[in-house]
Amino acid sequence: MKGSDRLSKIGSYAFAEVDKLVEDLRKKGITPIDFGVGDPQDPTPSVVRDACKQGVEDRRASGYPSYMGALEYRTAVSEWVRQRFGITMDPEQEISSTIGAKEAVFHLPLAFVNEGDYVISPNPYYPPYERGALFAGASCYFLPLEKKNNFQLDLGAIPADILKKTKILWINYPSNPSGALATKGFLKEAADFAVDNNVLVVSDECYSEMYYDKKPSSLLEFGYENILAIHSLSKRSNMTNYRIGWMMGDSRALALFKKVKTNIDSGTPTFIQDAAIAALGDESHVENMRKGYRKKRDIICKAFDDVGYPSSIPEATFYIWQEVPESLGSVGVTKKMLDPSIGIVTTPGKWISQDFNGKNPGENFIRFALVPPVEQCKEAAEKIRGAGL
Ligand SMILES: Cc1ncc(COP(=O)(O)O)c(C=O)c1O
Repeated sequence: MKGSDRLSKIGSYAFAEVDKLVEDLRKKGITPIDFGVGDPQDPTPSVVRDACKQGVEDRRASGYPSYMGALEYRTAVSEWVRQRFGITMDPEQEISSTIGAKEAVFHLPLAFVNEGDYVISPNPYYPPYERGALFAGASCYFLPLEKKNNFQLDLGAIPADILKKTKILWINYPSNPSGALATKGFLKEAADFAVDNNVLVVSDECYSEMYYDKKPSSLLEFGYENILAIHSLSKRSNMTNYRIGWMMGDSRALALFKKVKTNIDSGTPTFIQDAAIAALGDESHVENMRKGYRKKRDIICKAFDDVGYPSSIPEATFYIWQEVPESLGSVGVTKKMLDPSIGIVTTPGKWISQDFNGKNPGENFIRFALVPPVEQCKEAAEKIRGAGL
């Protein structure tokens, strides 16, 4: 059967390729240590699971959920962001629930772009920044995230003719995959950029709670006009399976997103919103999660240090964006690690970056998602030391 031209143009999804590598090793009878896909393997906290179970009972005759989320959920979000970022968001006009961050990222361009318009994405990047633009009929322009700039985007490098046609700029800090935080200077620049160029700047802040020392800021602390921020409970509270997040910011932009949303989905189940309210009411599990990732980060970073790879310690997220020798490149190191004698799965940076203007900024990096348990991280560290990389 032939799919649409739109579908055949876009190629495969990088993480489906990673899953395939894992499957190939399993077929050989090897259980790999899987640092490939960023899906936490720890259980969802009991406070969240209990609230969900209770919600199922309480909502036994509740019908369809609200498209934008129950006011109770939006109010809990508003209170949480006030405490966390010191920003005031009106739950009625400035917050909408989303089915995880992915739904928001993918569908947002449908509200803003026409044929011939551009969406700008960081590079390397979370694939739906590009895919959402392409499915909506726009083109994607890529701005490199480079170590020499501390992985801050260079907004001044956007060519004037592209900027004229740009409707959306995606920023993502803490950054997947680089693990960098945005500097306050960059966030101020991005907020000014939104107003000066009449471009919607959308800040994907879904890793805001996964930090090590410095607490990440929200772009909404630096501006409001033409700004939206996206958050998710997937990583903060190990709720990837629950599919819940939110979008907040400029009410004019949010109203357009909501219009798209009412045409596509029927909202997040209310018992999941109950679980999310419970998650937002508890910081202790988040604190524990941060401690766990710090331990794993230090184990793996030390192993790379011991084999003489450049220091690549992330400030935030549960990713290590490890620089590798140019002579091997990202795919070369990934293949070495996949050797059955090592059995470690990582994502080659090249697969989550685009060849653009003659360069691939992920060429000499591999991404480690710190999702396996500590014991497996220790085992992987020993394997890295012994691998002769
Ligand atoms: C940068 C980024 N944005 C969004 C998402 C999607 O998260 P969610 O589970 O909330 O859809 C991910 C997931 O890995 C991500 O890395």
